[in-house]
Amino acid sequence: MLLTLYYILVGIIKAILPAKLLPKKSVTKEKVLITGAGSGIGRALAIHLAKLDCELILWDINEKGNEETAEKIKKFDGVVHTYTVDLSRKDEIYSTADKVKREVGDVNILVNNAGVVTGKRYLQSPDGLIEKSMSVNVMAHFWTTKAFLPSMLEKNHGHIVSIASSAGLVGVNGLADYCASKFAAVGFMESLSVEIATAGKEGVHTTVVCPYAINTGMFDGFKDCRFPSILPILETEYVVEKIVDAILTNQEALYLPRAVYLLTAMKGLMPVKAGLLLHKFFGTTSVMDEFRGRPTKSD
Ligand SMILES: NC(=O)c1ccc[n+]([C@@H]2O[C@H](COP(=O)([O-])OP(=O)(O)OC[C@H]3O[C@@H](n4cnc5c(N)ncnc54)[C@H](O)[C@@H]3O)[C@@H](O)[C@H]2O)c1
Repeated sequence: MLLTLYYILVGIIKAILPAKLLPKKSVTKEKVLITGAGSGIGRALAIHLAKLDCELILWDINEKGNEETAEKIKKFDGVVHTYTVDLSRKDEIYSTADKVKREVGDVNILVNNAGVVTGKRYLQSPDGLIEKSMSVNVMAHFWTTKAFLPSMLEKNHGHIVSIASSAGLVGVNGLADYCASKFAAVGFMESLSVEIATAGKEGVHTTVVCPYAINTGMFDGFKDCRFPSILPILETEYVVEKIVDAILTNQEALYLPRAVYLLTAMKGLMPVKAGLLLHKFFGTTSVMDEFRGRPTKSD
């Protein structure tokens, strides 16, 4: 009971104090694997962590984008390895993971970041895209984690990071498959963190990141809600700085912006119909109405 109160107090202090005042771990020379490093959050995070002297292992299906990220890292003499891998294929994940272990060694920090979005109403979503959302946004997390967690547990040293979404906490219309995959990713991380903690592996950490929309291009056409000062579309650099702080301070969950903590708590307390009214009032039921997503080469 006393310990619970202690952790609540620590949580409050951590939430109030600016990240720069919190004690941070060193990640120098840590081997960090980031999936979806060929653009957006994955690319910016890779560059940030390489500047902190981590050795980067970049995975993406987009070879060109992945190489571009690596080039940016090599420009400041960062150490980086690239692998082209389709995360919707379990066999490719396992074979590439074996290759990484042979060529680079054990991974210390795994960031499950790659993601896809269909962006259509449920009945208009083609089966293939629904399956893709589930395989890239969550099933891949099971396979990468199965490949890299054992050595972390063995050494009692490591960190698993999942870039989920606020759409993994609250259902949004026009995002049924995306929300389902992100809810699953959040659930996977919550169970995993309990499993690691009950195994007494206090040196192995988990962080689940749940941001609202970010201006990377993945959600192009996503509309501002009625109160953008409370729920703004986030800047990539801001999100990445917060993710790095969360990794360095072993923060278990990061919701962005802060209003997401409050909205999630309210969802748990409110009757469903009242929640839906609040959703409509905030304008979050129409944010996907003009969704285009990332333009493809044929656009
Ligand atoms: N952009 C947002 O508004 C937003 C908000 C919340 C959470 N997120 C999550 O953040 C993560 C990063 O998103 P982003 O905005 O940087 O998007 P992005 O489209 O810029 O990057 C996603 C990367 O994943 C890669 N990828 C897609 N399918 C793949 C596959 N089958 N195999 C390997 N790589 C694959 C893409 O090539 C791309 O480089 C995603 O998981 C996304 O769901 C994004």
